[in-house]
Amino acid sequence: MTQRFLITGGAGFIGSNFILSLLAKYPRIHITNVDSLTYAGNLENLKSVESDPRYRFYRAAIENRDAMMSIFDEAKPDVVVHFAAESHVDRSILDGRPFVISNVLGTQTLLDCAKVRGVAKFVHVSTDEVYGTLGETGVFTEETPLAPNSPYSASKAGSDLLVRAYYETFNMPCVITRCSNNYGAYQFPEKLIPLMITNALYDLPLPVYGEGLNIRDWIHVEDHCHGVELAVEKGIPGQVYNLGGESERRNIDIVKQILAILGKPESLITHVQDRLGHDFRYAMGIQKARKELGFEPKYTFEKGLASTVEWYLNHESWWQAIKSGDYLHYYQKQYGEHV
Ligand code: NAD
Ligand code: TYD
Repeated sequence: MTQRFLITGGAGFIGSNFILSLLAKYPRIHITNVDSLTYAGNLENLKSVESDPRYRFYRAAIENRDAMMSIFDEAKPDVVVHFAAESHVDRSILDGRPFVISNVLGTQTLLDCAKVRGVAKFVHVSTDEVYGTLGETGVFTEETPLAPNSPYSASKAGSDLLVRAYYETFNMPCVITRCSNNYGAYQFPEKLIPLMITNALYDLPLPVYGEGLNIRDWIHVEDHCHGVELAVEKGIPGQVYNLGGESERRNIDIVKQILAILGKPESLITHVQDRLGHDFRYAMGIQKARKELGFEPKYTFEKGLASTVEWYLNHESWWQAIKSGDYLHYYQKQYGEHV
């Protein structure tokens, strides 16, 4: 691969894993990373590549058209991979506005810049949450109607529709991937798995919403990154590809599994007030990606969870810095002294 990539949101969880993996695999690649460094963006994730001549970082907000146009002119990308977004459902319940600005206006601005400058491929990274919620059975397919329930998922659905519209109206080479819940290295410890690991390590209560019976379909971040790479290589413009790990788990079972791995007592589990509008179950049908992209998740959930726990054990300074700052304040505001 000799392409020039413009990656948005590359200082976040999935974006930084994606950048590290591309640089490790492709000696002749060029990557420009654009990130506004919100609370979730962390350049520590990319410390090992910051002086790599194939890599360049710009701090900018994707909704800033002038800044983005100059970055396009400097970077001259063949491919845009768009990860940048406000990504946490609970934050969107507290305040939806940043979600509309970054996810909707930001995506439209980025599409506009890519249209004016011209790119060979625009991959938009989206989520299963745009499909809404499932009951006990069935899976989401690419034909499932969009029915988002949270301000986060509504803003992502809005961005997906804009991507579709730029393909239909301007014939832009846009591809959408929709992925299930990710876990792995560098995930901000507000999301379920890293929150539970890091709280357990400090013997803090583990706040499980309601009874913990909600189900998510988990995928290791490296499998997701591979799926996005396949979408860059083989994705057909105008198409949507579902990605997932075929690993459905109830929240409470994951929390107990983490406690068992760490040898911590289940008495740390604290049932707290349920999330408003809490989607019951997500499950991704990945047959299309399997057949048309050759996508195949490599991690079993058990192997992936064990290696993720190991990563957090070995990177305490990374998450300790986060937990002692903004994040702790945010959760204390929401749940009092639970965390
Ligand atoms: P994250 O919150 O860890 O990272 C998001 C990054 O985007 C951060 O570095 C942040 O600084 C940056 N950003 C936010 N708003 C920006 C803006 N306006 N301009 C420039 N940069 C901005 O999120 P993540 O978990 O890595 O998710 C990445 C993408 O993948 C998102 O689009 C998300 O919707 C999607 N996704 C995530 C999951 C998941 O489980 N985490 C699952 C499916 C899809
Ligand atoms: P989360 O990691 O926020 O991802 P999403 O809401 O995008 O699926 O949450 C995953 C599940 O875990 C979800 O059902 C909500 C639940 N959850 C808790 O029970 N406690 C928590 O502290 C968090 C953050 C999530």
